[in-house]
Amino acid sequence: MNSDQIVPLEKNKQTADFESERQNRLLHYQQNEDFKQLSHAWLRTSMHEKYVYNFEWLGRPIIQYPQDIMAIQELVWTVRPDLIIETGIAHGGSLILSASLLALLDFADAIEAGTTLDPKVSKRKVIGVDIDIRSHNRTAIEAHPFAHRIEMVQGSSISEDTIIQVKRAAKDFQRVMVLLDSMHTHDHVTAELDAYAALVTPGSYCVVFDTFVEDMPLNFFSDRPWNVGNNPKTAVQAWLPSHPEFEVDTLLESKLQVTVAPHGFLRRINK
Ligand SMILES: C[S@@+](CC[C@H](N)C(=O)[O-])C[C@H]1O[C@@H](n2cnc3c(N)ncnc32)[C@H](O)[C@@H]1O
Repeated sequence: MNSDQIVPLEKNKQTADFESERQNRLLHYQQNEDFKQLSHAWLRTSMHEKYVYNFEWLGRPIIQYPQDIMAIQELVWTVRPDLIIETGIAHGGSLILSASLLALLDFADAIEAGTTLDPKVSKRKVIGVDIDIRSHNRTAIEAHPFAHRIEMVQGSSISEDTIIQVKRAAKDFQRVMVLLDSMHTHDHVTAELDAYAALVTPGSYCVVFDTFVEDMPLNFFSDRPWNVGNNPKTAVQAWLPSHPEFEVDTLLESKLQVTVAPHGFLRRINK
């Protein structure tokens, strides 16, 4: 064995140590009431201050917390999906986030295979659904350098027409991730889970955003149809018991501390 071979072995041990320390740290966070309360208080105040509207991804406004953007990056790298289905487009920031991460996966594949990549050829795609794609948003998304990876469907995410269109567009993909971020009422999210969760492939995720509404004070969103008792978390809690093929990734939310998707990172563990 030469010295070149010894180094990776040492590295592997260090990597294993690093990962097990991280796992222990995240489990410890779950018992740390001070940290949880502080994170929760920060989320509540920052929601009140409309902090979630402060950010852009590659030039498009994205209505997400930076922590959740980091979570999506980690999930996409781990799962390596070839299709991401998103409900809720708004200004298009999350579509561009997904498209850009998929572009990096194609780039990484090309480097690993030792081939060159034509940046216009996109094996990986994003399908975005919104009931109301405003024309200025559509124009900006279509003009974006990553637009060739994006297909937009206008319609309610739970209408039969939309579901048929999305399923048709998804049929040739092998690794599918789903991000639900449209109407945040219990019934709507339940219908979205019923329509789209089955498309998620084993090992991949269905992320249900805005489950945090359940943890906010009553009537926190006085101008919205969702509230405590009627929101994405109540939908997930009612839906999961009859879907043992999914489990909540509690370590991921523990890592984030501040997230709009507590109990919303659903990993598909089997068929
Ligand atoms: C929170 S925004 C999406 C934010 C976006 N995912 C992002 O991260 O930037 C919610 C979007 O859901 C859309 N929406 C509301 N009801 C819907 C429905 N029934 N079907 C599909 N989209 C809907 C709204 O038009 C709005 O653009």
